[in-house]
Amino acid sequence: MIITCGECQTKYRLDESKAKMDVFKVRCRKCKHAFLVKKHVSDSEVTPHSLPAETSVRPKQKHYQDNPNCRVITICNQKGGVAKTTTCLNLAASLVLMNKRVLVVDFDIQSNLTLLLNHRDARSFFDVIQSENDELSGYLVKTNHNFWLLPSNSKMALLSKKHLPNENFEYMLRNKLLEVKGNFDYILIDTPPSGDFYTLNALLASNAAVIPMPCDYLSLNGVSHIEAMINVIEAKINHKIEMNILVTLFEQDNPIGAIILDKLKSKYQDKVFKTRIDKDQKIQESQIDHTPTIFYSKESVAAKQYQQLAREIEGSFATIENQAAMNSR
Ligand SMILES: Nc1ncnc2c1ncn2[C@@H]1O[C@H](COP(=O)(O)OP(=O)(O)OP(=O)(O)O)[C@@H](O)[C@H]1O
Ligand SMILES: [Mg+2]
Repeated sequence: MIITCGECQTKYRLDESKAKMDVFKVRCRKCKHAFLVKKHVSDSEVTPHSLPAETSVRPKQKHYQDNPNCRVITICNQKGGVAKTTTCLNLAASLVLMNKRVLVVDFDIQSNLTLLLNHRDARSFFDVIQSENDELSGYLVKTNHNFWLLPSNSKMALLSKKHLPNENFEYMLRNKLLEVKGNFDYILIDTPPSGDFYTLNALLASNAAVIPMPCDYLSLNGVSHIEAMINVIEAKINHKIEMNILVTLFEQDNPIGAIILDKLKSKYQDKVFKTRIDKDQKIQESQIDHTPTIFYSKESVAAKQYQQLAREIEGSFATIENQAAMNSR
């Protein structure tokens, strides 16, 4: 074998068969530098045993058990500005007041929920997917309001571009949430005003959808788009999503509102929440303060209505679960 002195770079031919040890010391005749030499090991001697097992260099593939007691709700509507983000934030805070363990997921490239919670520049779902092996739990941040947030950032826009061509792209969020479902009673997912990659991923991770809707004609139309999407999901892959419509930004003295509300109720009947969220200036004030309205102004109309919504949702889940238990007997 050829060895090289690390100091003066002089090369020597060495008969390694004379060496008694696998690693031994030699001294350079020219510069007197002493250095260690490792006996050459031929390729045939490299047995699978002498290589590190693959599992010891790669994190082990973990299998997470689903937690059926965790309710995952997507807040969605293809129409913009209907109070999706506002509802996600205030519903989360209201559920915390009911001692529920809550995670909110900002799955919107606008990052509005993350901004309202004052967690700019945090790592997002895109970052955890990029890491390949990181666990989701390391990316959740605890907010000042006793619930957790998976933030969004500007890189979220790349998520669909990068992963849309991949097989099973629509299950990315569902698969990742499985890692943390055991820690939460509710996971609320805020989505962008669209029915694409992000909303589809969110719906497939969810057992329920809340569709906020102001009482105007175009918003009523927006509800049908989400309903159609949910129906396709149910028909094609037999994934049941409980859909409910939440009237938002309601103005008592607007006669158009009452007409649309009538149409909505006759079309969707008990799919419309009994609770209604009125237009309330305290919502906008509280957002400037980065505080959920129910903590910013406990006595405001919107604060009371969002707490009532949380009770209604908790009650409706309990009813569905009781029915399912009775049916399985
Ligand atoms: N009940 C309410 N009373 C008064 N203003 C409200 C109410 N709900 C929401 N808003 C205001 O309406 C605007 C839109 O709300 P929000 O951002 O929650 O809608 P969105 O559906 O998430 O919008 P986007 O589609 O852009 O994500 C915000 O300025 C918010 O402060
Ligand atoms: Mg929003």
